[in-house]
Amino acid sequence: MLDFTSALYLGMRHQSHALRPWKSFTGGVPAALRESRPGITVARSMADLQGSEDAVLAPSTLHLFWDLFGLIGHDDTIIYMDEGVYPIARWGVERAAAKGAVVRGFRHYNTDSLTEIVRTTSHRRKRPLIVSDGFCPSCGRPVPLSDYLSIAEAFGGYLLLDDTQALGILGHSPSRNNPYGIGGGGILRWSNVIHNPRLLVVSSMAKAFGAPVAVLSGSKAMVSHFRERSKIRVHCSPPSNAIIHAAEHALALNKNFGDRMRQNLLRLVRRFRHLMARAGFLPKGGVFPVQTLSRSESLDPVVLHERLLSHGIQTVLHQGDASKRALISLLMNARHGLPDIDYLVNALIEMTRVNKLEVSYEIRT
Ligand SMILES: Cc1ncc(COP(=O)(O)O)c(C=O)c1O
Repeated sequence: MLDFTSALYLGMRHQSHALRPWKSFTGGVPAALRESRPGITVARSMADLQGSEDAVLAPSTLHLFWDLFGLIGHDDTIIYMDEGVYPIARWGVERAAAKGAVVRGFRHYNTDSLTEIVRTTSHRRKRPLIVSDGFCPSCGRPVPLSDYLSIAEAFGGYLLLDDTQALGILGHSPSRNNPYGIGGGGILRWSNVIHNPRLLVVSSMAKAFGAPVAVLSGSKAMVSHFRERSKIRVHCSPPSNAIIHAAEHALALNKNFGDRMRQNLLRLVRRFRHLMARAGFLPKGGVFPVQTLSRSESLDPVVLHERLLSHGIQTVLHQGDASKRALISLLMNARHGLPDIDYLVNALIEMTRVNKLEVSYEIRT
């Protein structure tokens, strides 16, 4: 089966024999009481990689968002939430709203919409907290980081990003030839906006880096504020030693081979888009390894998904956009080969052609 459903974009697997062994899965104490040395080292390396002063690990982004939105001042904060934000940050915002915080939505990656809503709703005694994803795989666009930050700064507030998708793919010094950039540090590096005291970033390492653990990174002051007040660090188990060793392994792989893996990935995505364009199709996603077929291209996505499956090709059938209608996305990773992409595109073209013939046959009879 050709699998286009996995978000392990760099193809990192971390098989057990590749990892440093561990003496126990967990120490049985919460992070507030004792943090493992390797965990602290991984967090520091992540801060360096991402362009932040400090970082701390947590079991998942769900833990982090739940915790963070319980810690903000609910009476003196207005939350401005980008409408395209991933559900987990949204669930955190709902927690803050339940505690009394005011929440306003604004149009996805639309600086004018954010400016307008902040201007008309800002309050002398309330600090804005802007919440957004660092990169949107559905539309293939990065967050307008400098714009969002300038607005946060102008009104004395903060920007909280979920950078799960960009981590490991985007990095510093992007160019026309190398749109991903170098190093895989994520959206801050890619946008050359680093060490900003108004910026807080939550990222899962479970996608490009293949290690299911989350990182909160930001200024020293904000990370230590979180460390001191965090509820999950008191009441939940910390990330397991096995996962921390996988994260350590991911960082070593990224350092030694990451740029080569990203180049390989870029070649695959470009090949896919080139062949699709030649056949008259324009998938969404830009050069990001998540490519979404537009509805007109895929005809009936449910039928197409079934047909691809019967040809041994797994894709993601989902309710992707605001209309909640079915869409098909294809997730590529550095372990795919060019022949896999060719096979996929040929199958897509063939099925679309057959579909069109069927439609015209139905009309004729
Ligand atoms: C933007 C974003 N945030 C958070 C998550 C959740 O990460 P995890 O799977 O590690 O819980 C995902 C998963 O796809 C994601 O895309």
